[in-house]
Amino acid sequence: ARAVPPPPALSSLSDVQQRLGDCKRCGLCQERTHLVFGEGSKAARLFFVGEGPGADEDQLGQPFVGAAGQLLNKIIEAMGYRRADVYIANIVKCRPPANRTPKPEEVASCLPFLRAQIDLIQPRVVVALGLTAAKALTQKESTMANLRGRFASVFWNPELPLMATYHPAYLLRNPEAKKIVWEDMKQVKTRLDLLH
Ligand code: URA
Repeated sequence: ARAVPPPPALSSLSDVQQRLGDCKRCGLCQERTHLVFGEGSKAARLFFVGEGPGADEDQLGQPFVGAAGQLLNKIIEAMGYRRADVYIANIVKCRPPANRTPKPEEVASCLPFLRAQIDLIQPRVVVALGLTAAKALTQKESTMANLRGRFASVFWNPELPLMATYHPAYLLRNPEAKKIVWEDMKQVKTRLDLLH
């Protein structure tokens, strides 16, 4: 039997994008309009990870461009950054039908690409927006109430701090949680400011 050749090293974000290609690795490909790769600064020190594209994101091919995205933009600006300074991506790159939570096998087939993006960008802090992102990036079962408010780390690199906080879509439904998210984002900002 011929040995399977090792995958070519993913040495740039465009390599990752090329490798994804017209991805058919999971069933989410069937109903997507656009694969949403992620966007932002290649030198971002702060990397936000959401759950998956919604209807607006699927239409435009960009992450967080709908109502939740508008709120995320406000959060980023309140922290003193511009959207273009950070990087924004999702656990899955294709829209789950009717915005259902991605299935474990969908997360598993997509996560290596997000991990490659994070490793190439080398941010100083990753923010998991919502429990789906928090669970995928820590590979731990937990609750948001348990995870948020202190730094954990991404599962493959104990040196890369992860802050989990409530998803902006949750904040649209529960505006009283905004002050909790702001507490979490202040911790993130303090950490980034200390690194200057
Ligand atoms: N919600 C997400 O989790 N990601 C997006 O890109 C948009 C909404």
